[in-house]
Amino acid sequence: MSLRPLIIAPSVLAADLAHLAREVRRAVDGGADWLHVDIMDGHFVPNISFGPEMVRTLRRVAPEVTLDVHLMIEQPERYARTFIESGADVLSVHLEAHQNIRRTLATIRGMGCRAGLAINPLTMIEVALPLLSRIDLLLCMTVNPGFGGQAFMGEVLEKVRAARRVTREFDLPVDIEVDGGVDDATVGPAVAAGANVIVAGTFLFKQQDLGAAIARLRCKAAEISSAG
Ligand code: DX5
Ligand code: ZN
Repeated sequence: MSLRPLIIAPSVLAADLAHLAREVRRAVDGGADWLHVDIMDGHFVPNISFGPEMVRTLRRVAPEVTLDVHLMIEQPERYARTFIESGADVLSVHLEAHQNIRRTLATIRGMGCRAGLAINPLTMIEVALPLLSRIDLLLCMTVNPGFGGQAFMGEVLEKVRAARRVTREFDLPVDIEVDGGVDDATVGPAVAAGANVIVAGTFLFKQQDLGAAIARLRCKAAEISSAG
């Protein structure tokens, strides 16, 4: 478990894009803390999603919400500035993408944006631990990146536990995010392992009452917190 505040971040990838503004309002007015925005380039992952224009649009539709932008792209350092200028508040780059990771993280922070480090399910946590003092958020993928609607990989929680142990031991102010396959059954174990930022796409946007679904995630997380 984590003492950091619980943050629910609906993933726009699962929204009905024919009604984007309405979907965003549904999420934000329903109690979302952040909006998670998946950027895919067709190289780093086998899918193509949105570009900076999407971030600009979301910024316009919901100026008050924290935009959590997840870059699943090669050479993220080439685009970091553009996404920050477009309105990203948190910008995550993948450890597996080709770049000088320390330089990219420093560039992001240097622009006044929160820096996130994302790792794929098969990436060992030991590679990420030395970077914890240089980041604001560690994004642990709980599915292989590229598509929404996949099944949660519970084995990733061992890495969440390991990272949370280190942030506690060294008193590092790092949020730990789980992304992929999170629903009302998997949120509890994720929070118990130490995650405090919960991305959910399919589970939230498929509900008629998105606000009630967010409340359900909070409730499941609280049950764990009070049990611990
Ligand atoms: C997957 C993306 C996720 C995705 C989550 O590559 O990074 O953010 O939108 O969607 P669900 O919650 O449907 O697994
Ligand atoms: Zn994502």
